[in-house]
Amino acid sequence: MARLDVTETFHNIMFPGHMHTKDSLNYAINFQFQDTDTVIVTYPKSGTTWMQEIITLVLGKGDPTIAQTQPNWARAPWLEQYYCVDVLKASTGPRIITTHLPYHLLAEALQDSKAKVIYVARNLKDVLVSYYHFHKMANFLPDPGTFSDFLNDFLKGAVHYGSWFDHVNGWTSHTKDIHNFLYITYEEMCKDLHVSVQKVSRFLQCNLTEDELMLAQKHCSFNSMKENTMVNYTLIPQEIMDHSKGKFMRKGKVGDWKNTFTEEQSRLVDDVYSSQMTDSSLLFKWEC
Ligand code: A3P
Repeated sequence: MARLDVTETFHNIMFPGHMHTKDSLNYAINFQFQDTDTVIVTYPKSGTTWMQEIITLVLGKGDPTIAQTQPNWARAPWLEQYYCVDVLKASTGPRIITTHLPYHLLAEALQDSKAKVIYVARNLKDVLVSYYHFHKMANFLPDPGTFSDFLNDFLKGAVHYGSWFDHVNGWTSHTKDIHNFLYITYEEMCKDLHVSVQKVSRFLQCNLTEDELMLAQKHCSFNSMKENTMVNYTLIPQEIMDHSKGKFMRKGKVGDWKNTFTEEQSRLVDDVYSSQMTDSSLLFKWEC
C-alpha cells in the first residue's frame, strides 16, 4: 500500500503533512486559550489518548457515555491539526485541547492564560519502542526502517515532532511560567491508576466520590480502552492506520523496551539521556 508520507517542516520541526498545514500550525501558535480550557500536552506515545480518556471520565463523574460515543479526537482535538478550528467552533462546554507542540511554540499563547495544562511524560525507551511500532502501522508516517535506524533518527530529533529531550525539557523547565500546571508520568498512571485519576480530578477541581472514581478508573483501564472503538483508532480507515500491521493499544506496559533494545542500544540511550538531561531533576521509572 502506498504510504501517505508528506511532511510539513515548521520552525524546524517535522509534522505529518496530511494533518498539519502551515495554516493549522499558525492557528495553533496564535491560539487564544480560555481560562476554562484543559490542555493535554505530550510528546507522541506518552499516554495522550489515556489522558484524553481520563479527563473525559473525570468531567463526566465516571459516566462513560461520552467516552463510548465520541471519538477521542473529536472530544479533545489536536490543536495543531487542521480540523481543530471547526471542532472548537462547534463546541459548547469547557474545551479539552490536545497538543504535541513543543513549549516554545505555545509559550506566548499560554502566557496570560489560566487554562489548566496537564503534561504527561513517559520514559523515552518505552516511547521509542511505542513510536517505532506506531510508524509501522500509521501510513501517514515515514517507514521507520529497522529499530536501529529509527533509534538513531529519534536520538537526533529527526522524527515527527522533533526531539523528545527538547520537548520534555522545554515544558518541564517552564512550569512556573504556566499558571495552572500538572506534571504526571505514564509510569505513575500505570502504577496506581486510582491515585492518578484522583490527582487529575483534584487538579481540574472536579472532585469525585469514591464510587465515581472507581467507575472512571474502570473505563480508562488498558483492557477497557483496548475494546473501546472510540479510542482504539479502529474507526480510522485502513489506508491511514493499518491495524493488520499492529494495534494502537499495543501493550500499555512500563519496561516493554527491554524486549526490543540490545544492551548496546540501551547504553547509547543512557549516554545521550545523561548528556541531554543534565539540567533536569526529573526521574523516570524505566521498568516496573
Ligand atoms: P504502547 O505502544 O507501549 O502499548 P499515545 O496515546 O500518546 O499515542 O500513547 C500510546 C501508548 O499509550 C501506547 O503504548 C498505548 O498502548 C498506551 N496506552 C493507551 N491507553 C493506555 C492505558 N489505559 N493503559 C496503559 N497504556 C495505555
